[in-house]
Amino acid sequence: MKGSYQLENFTENKELEVQRLKAQVELFFDKEFEAFKKLGLKDGMRIIECGSGPGYLMVNILKRFKNCKATALEIDPYLFEILSKNAQQDGKQLYTPLQGSIYDIDMPDESVDFAVTRLVVEHLQDPYKAFSELRRILKPGGILVVVSNDFAYHVLTYPVIPELDEMFAAYNKSRFNEGGNPLVGRQLPLFFERAGFKNVDIEITTAHSQLKGDKAMLNAENVNISRSLVREGFLKAETLENLLQKWFEMLHNPDHIIFRQLFIVGGVKDDGQAIDFAQLQAQYAKNLATLKSAENSVGTSSSSAVSMDAFELESLILNEWKKALDTDEISGSDNFFDIGGSSVLIPEIINSLSQTTGVKIKILDFFQNPTVKSLCQHVLSGTAANGSQVSGVEPKKESIRTTSNENKLLSDEEQKAKLMAQRNKFKNRRK
Ligand SMILES: C[S@@+](CC[C@H](N)C(=O)[O-])C[C@H]1O[C@@H](n2cnc3c(N)ncnc32)[C@H](O)[C@@H]1O
Repeated sequence: MKGSYQLENFTENKELEVQRLKAQVELFFDKEFEAFKKLGLKDGMRIIECGSGPGYLMVNILKRFKNCKATALEIDPYLFEILSKNAQQDGKQLYTPLQGSIYDIDMPDESVDFAVTRLVVEHLQDPYKAFSELRRILKPGGILVVVSNDFAYHVLTYPVIPELDEMFAAYNKSRFNEGGNPLVGRQLPLFFERAGFKNVDIEITTAHSQLKGDKAMLNAENVNISRSLVREGFLKAETLENLLQKWFEMLHNPDHIIFRQLFIVGGVKDDGQAIDFAQLQAQYAKNLATLKSAENSVGTSSSSAVSMDAFELESLILNEWKKALDTDEISGSDNFFDIGGSSVLIPEIINSLSQTTGVKIKILDFFQNPTVKSLCQHVLSGTAANGSQVSGVEPKKESIRTTSNENKLLSDEEQKAKLMAQRNKFKNRRK
């Protein structure tokens, strides 16, 4: 079962990728090891790492905990060869290298005290299958640790480089496209609990250039990954050029900062539970489709696909307003919020417009352009939702909250009644 880390596709240069993986282990290892101990790792335990790559995490663990009996599992033949070489240190076999998949680990049931998988789950198509297999090989009370990224919260810089966000948006699209989930970090505690683990905990650990030095941070990056994104059509060559230029300028700024995160999640196998992993995976696949389509729309201009004139678009938007407000008496210059409109109606209008015309409007655009005419102009001019005000139109404050001291939200029934009253008032005013 393929996922989003196929070495050949991931990077143009395998040797550099191995060096990057090594630097990435070194960058975080001290903090990760402290987290592993806090989650229950002890010297002398029977341990496994699944998806070890070249094995640098395992080598580092075993330098500190010399009495652990360890296995390192890796699927890729090129990385497995390096993993096997790295197992030999000073004439000793540090760990047992095992070639195979995390979905089908060649280890007996209940044979392992501590299992770790690092920067792997985000690449898997079927994470619950992996959880099920890891759970199988763990002894009762055994510990699972998953180290992962969440690419919404990854590398941050000072000065800010806007192209970096574009690159990560492209990276996410590419990984989703291959069946991975680059935003999985935030979901992991839920996965652990659903997969039958208790005492679940999450930490986000950080590496900072001020503390680690630029070289350590830079060695853990690999520009070839971004080049692959250009080759595959996810990122414009021009964006990458600008990114590299600004990255270079950032490094020459005396106040520059590079700041990077890793998510560490751990839990203890809870023996009492029978888990339907296939059902969990089916639900996950559904959720992933939604996440993927939301991520695919990131950076897409709200009006890029609009191929109609102002008159046609105005009448389509006007129709949607009429349906939502249940009245025919609206003109192109009426302010939505003056004529009984409220923010609860906006998603309905936006969705319907998107389905009938393909025009995608953001909620913020709607607030900033509260007449049919201004919204239409906004869409046709291709202005992104960036906080700019459309001339001559003041957005009205939301009126759905009560004016009572508690400022509490109205119930559905109260909202409906209030909307009806506003619409009737508007209709009467028109008569
Ligand atoms: C980003 S690398 C991380 C390597 C290592 N864990 C580290 O932190 O340096 C992802 C690794 O997961 C491996 N991998 C991907 N899918 C796998 C699977 N189904 N079973 C086992 N390993 C897998 C890849 O071959 C690769 O070595």
